Amino acid sequence: MLPDLFIQQLKQYSDIERVVSGYVQLKKKGRYLVGLCPFHSEKSGSFFIYPQTQSFYCFGCGAGGDVITFIRRIENLEYMEAVKFLADKCGLEVPENGETDSRTLLKKKVLEINRESARFFHNCLMSDQGKGAYQYLIERGRDRKTIRHFGLGYAPDDWYALVNHLKSKGYTEQEMIEANVAVKGKKGNAFDRFRNRVMFPIIDLRGNVVAFGGRALDDKGAKYLNSSDTPVFKKSKNLFALNFAKTSKYPGLILAEGYMDVIAIHQAGFDNAVATLGTSLTDEQARLISQYTDKVILAYDSDGPGQAATKRAINMFDEVGVKVTVLSMTGAKDPDEFIKKYGRERFAMLLEGSRNAVEFELAKIRSAYDVGTPDGKVGFLKEACKLFAGIKNPLEREVYITQTANELEISPQAILAQIKNLDKREYYRERNKQKSDMNLYIGSMAAAKDDLQRQQKLRYAMAEEGILYCLMKNPDFYRTLETKIGEQDFVTDINRELYHTFVTRLQEGQGIEMLDLSSQLSEQAMARVSAILATAPSQRCDEAALEDYIRILIEHRNVKTDREVAQMDDADLGEYIKNLAAKKNRRS
Ligand code: CTP
Ligand code: MN
Repeated sequence: MLPDLFIQQLKQYSDIERVVSGYVQLKKKGRYLVGLCPFHSEKSGSFFIYPQTQSFYCFGCGAGGDVITFIRRIENLEYMEAVKFLADKCGLEVPENGETDSRTLLKKKVLEINRESARFFHNCLMSDQGKGAYQYLIERGRDRKTIRHFGLGYAPDDWYALVNHLKSKGYTEQEMIEANVAVKGKKGNAFDRFRNRVMFPIIDLRGNVVAFGGRALDDKGAKYLNSSDTPVFKKSKNLFALNFAKTSKYPGLILAEGYMDVIAIHQAGFDNAVATLGTSLTDEQARLISQYTDKVILAYDSDGPGQAATKRAINMFDEVGVKVTVLSMTGAKDPDEFIKKYGRERFAMLLEGSRNAVEFELAKIRSAYDVGTPDGKVGFLKEACKLFAGIKNPLEREVYITQTANELEISPQAILAQIKNLDKREYYRERNKQKSDMNLYIGSMAAAKDDLQRQQKLRYAMAEEGILYCLMKNPDFYRTLETKIGEQDFVTDINRELYHTFVTRLQEGQGIEMLDLSSQLSEQAMARVSAILATAPSQRCDEAALEDYIRILIEHRNVKTDREVAQMDDADLGEYIKNLAAKKNRRS
């Protein structure tokens, strides 16, 4: 447990509004702030920050919690790591002795193994046994400086080279397997996962080696082999070379498909290139990129799959508000080949003239129709108008409309009329969607969408939530509460657990603000607490309200399920019926 004093200081210095705005663009809206949720894809903001309670809550996906929960989720950290992360940012020292969480220890071990492996691979590349691999890289145009800069390496053509090396450094086979640099063989012994490959270390934003990509030098196995997800690595959340690109002086990021492409682009002088790690772009990566830049140049392969991926990426970046331009390479299949063939100047020119997303789309549509025929013209126009309707900047829109009108030899007004129609439809569709979204909020909670118990006992669950809310607002209410109800009166499990935690803490003189709670509650429970804070303000929280909530829970004492009634013995049943009758009389 961390000392209270430290938590108090952390609270003071880690204002949720400031921390979150480093990741999400927030707009002020009355007493809270709103932005696009970083934990799910959305176009309209359902992600709320409540400075007063220092909590966040997403009405769309139900993510919620305090500043520590936020950092844990967005940086993929354990509790203590998140505390350390925040403390570092405000220059606080985390008191020792709290940190013995076994998972934290495992992560540390895996990171050490990764670093040691990267060093081993690099030394192999620079030594005699790596001669062939080194030659291969030189022939492909990489120079010595680049090889050092990226820490490239060579995994020897051997089953135990790395395993033996790591053993000599004191690491266990189990740890190597966790780090995914070794694999468990049939007889249970570990062997090297990467063999006879050029190795690309993947480095995260804090400078840790978190994973590897390996390119085959022979035809055994796949051309590229990548680390699977490990305790320190999630493919879908990382980008190759972002550690360099994040501090580039060039505006925007260049997104390429492969390691070799990125390295070639960096060597050509553009240190703002990154790549995904053997998968196509994920939502998480698009959001990650949107934290660093609002402009991306797509430099995918010029083949079919590359172009399909380009289209997909354009849509994904649109979702997160990143502007996209597309590099159109001719005469080479990827940036690596292009630079090798035509040199860095030509590549720089390509970057200058990279066509923007609308033009790319327009060219695609054009190639799908024969605009020489009337039918083709109509087909093309319809699709093009859909595209234009999505352009928000009116000037940009006009440029394309004029251009297309000229091309098709029709009047710009005709195109405008068509778009207006689409706009209207779009407007109504959006409005209806928002309406139905609002309806979902009432009575339901995104954070509890899978909680069947809450749905079935909604009336009681909401009373419980009212109590928890009152308690967080006025902690001294717990004295009144204690004399009237106990935790056994809580009907739903999760609220009972929360009540138990609150009361226990209050009895021991501890706080129940968000930051106090996150050391003790699970992420799921934290999400529920912030959901209550976010949705309850429509409920009252004075003493009269508290009485109402209490009354509802006391009522439940007398509510039995049919099954419970069926199982009562005669005496109990008599008592129960008498009770019901008495209640009925009181009401009438
Ligand atoms: N990739 C992968 N597994 C494969 C093939 C490709 O994970 N079997 C990923 C790698 O991250 C690779 C990227 O997809 O960097 C692009 O693949 P590809 O275009 O085939 O490779 P190149 O980058 O052109 O590699 P090279 O120039 O070395 O042939
Ligand atoms: Mn290539």
